[in-house]
Amino acid sequence: MSSSDPISILSDRFRAAIRAAFPQLTAEIDPLIAPSKQAQFGDFQCNAAMSLAKQLASKPRDVAQAIVKHADLGDLAEKLSDASIAGPGFINIKLRGDSLGSLLASMDGPSLGVEPAREPMTVVVDLMGVNLAKQMHVGHLRSPFIGDAVARTFERLGHTVLRQNHLGDWGLNIAMTVARLIEMRDAGTLNLDSITLDQLDAAYKAAESSTRRDVDGLAAARKSGHPKAIAELEAQVDGATDAFNRARQTLVKLQAHDPDTFGVWQRIREVTMSVCLAVCERLRVNVTDEHSAGESSYAEELAPMVADLEKRAVAEVDQGALIVRVDQPPRDAAGNPAWEPIKEPCLVRKTDGGFLYATTDVCAIRRRVQKLLADRIIYCIDARQNLHLRQVFAASVRAGYATNPRTGRTAVMEHAAFGAVLGEDGRPFKTRSGDSVSLQALIDEAVDRAAAAVRARNTTISDSELRATAETIGVAAMKYADLCNDRSRDYMFSFDRMLAFEGNTGPYLLYAYARIRRIFEKARERGVEGSWSSAAFRIAAPSEKTLALALLPYNAAVARVAETLQPHHLCQYLYDLAGTFSTFYDQCPVVDAPDAATRDSRLRLCDLTGRVLRDGLSVLGIPTLERM
Ligand code: ARG
Repeated sequence: MSSSDPISILSDRFRAAIRAAFPQLTAEIDPLIAPSKQAQFGDFQCNAAMSLAKQLASKPRDVAQAIVKHADLGDLAEKLSDASIAGPGFINIKLRGDSLGSLLASMDGPSLGVEPAREPMTVVVDLMGVNLAKQMHVGHLRSPFIGDAVARTFERLGHTVLRQNHLGDWGLNIAMTVARLIEMRDAGTLNLDSITLDQLDAAYKAAESSTRRDVDGLAAARKSGHPKAIAELEAQVDGATDAFNRARQTLVKLQAHDPDTFGVWQRIREVTMSVCLAVCERLRVNVTDEHSAGESSYAEELAPMVADLEKRAVAEVDQGALIVRVDQPPRDAAGNPAWEPIKEPCLVRKTDGGFLYATTDVCAIRRRVQKLLADRIIYCIDARQNLHLRQVFAASVRAGYATNPRTGRTAVMEHAAFGAVLGEDGRPFKTRSGDSVSLQALIDEAVDRAAAAVRARNTTISDSELRATAETIGVAAMKYADLCNDRSRDYMFSFDRMLAFEGNTGPYLLYAYARIRRIFEKARERGVEGSWSSAAFRIAAPSEKTLALALLPYNAAVARVAETLQPHHLCQYLYDLAGTFSTFYDQCPVVDAPDAATRDSRLRLCDLTGRVLRDGLSVLGIPTLERM
């Protein structure tokens, strides 16, 4: 399928013109096509003449003239001439309304111009990864939001996507909690059949603090690094208390699947998972039980894998522990390293023989590439785990586990890192008492506030429609507020801001979509039906042109998310589109257009805009409402 995006068409045409004008240029050519800063000069400009002039040792204006002479823009744009060249050598390009109309028509199919990947891949997306017996809080929003949006983007482009929920459901911390719960149950102070996640969370914290007494010396280590890594460091500290020893014994029993111990663990897992999956369902995050691949699922594979690493001398013993060095990556013929050298080795077995978080992650890469045949693995995880991930990526490459058996190529492994969620005071988001807020309470508040806002605008809405509408708006608000930021940055969680109906928000986009649907209701009331769907697009008024130009780069926006793993590019596209539409609708009467042909063209423009908004939001994992 040929592209309907003007930038990509113009890039092709200008690349060809530059090649024809300067056959001596052998390197790749970037024609530097960009939207015009000032609309009176044109719609786009080609800015390549300036940098090419340096390479060619000639004057930018002469270079621009040569490009103009060789450029064949067909009927896409008005014919170029010397008058198209401005300043030192910018080439102004004005698209023709009729060609914009045919580009829109070519975009106006079921795929909305989104080009399926030429080489469909198997993409694993690592997302969610909650830990057993811990209440979900605001910090758990980002991984499923970003991960699901990235996964949907790859699905939209025709790739095979496998979501993997790498649950923290194994290890000493869990065993500690199991030991504590068994004690409480045996003392008659706890009924495991009716236990809630809050109670589990409390037991987890109590168990943790009873084993933490001796590890004050680790306070320094705690300042940096990830909680899980620290917990593992703590586990190495001498002077373990009774509680600590009991936890160890419980871990041994758990590993041996001792029925009572294992049964309690299963109960913890069940309670945690039911909350986690309910939250996902409510947030319209496509993570279900079938995506669960917790640490426990690798438990049996760790010892044989580590033995394999040791046998092949990928891993070596260092001060009693087993490590994989990752400081000397192999280099290809061109001298490029297989990864950026990392000083700190990847620890795969502790001195006491226990395995670590990293061991399991190496094992997960092995399964994902060797069994699931991943070509690409994307980790939607907190930025603080970057070193950990780079270590396990490198160790897996060294071990050969990351080589896809189907293609023989090394799977591409990426960390789609994200920053923290802050409160409005700029500090980590907490309640007044300093506790983290449970995710369910947070969603409830977003939905309640959305309900109040809808009720204020619409006094006749039925209670059941109000509830459904508020649920959608509340969830859309939370998701969009997260996704519209550069994911690597921290962002501020503010109910007021995310729920505003104006500005770059979820509710604003939902409203823009519902407003378009309302136009069709109005058309139907007037007896205008269907005839517009095959009408010719007539792009004449300036705001029609602007709307066409805002619509056409949809494919580019979706592709850009896949390229950068940054959903905010699609948010920005949709926000611009909604704003442009609003201007168009203010300036161009639709149902009351001056003649039937203009009316039908405009109705088709409205319809296309609506479908792109709905599709784009669904790629982000955000549901829409037909009316609001
Ligand atoms: N459970 C981990 C944590 O709480 C996140 C898991 C992320 N995924 C992974 N493959 N390590 O930090």
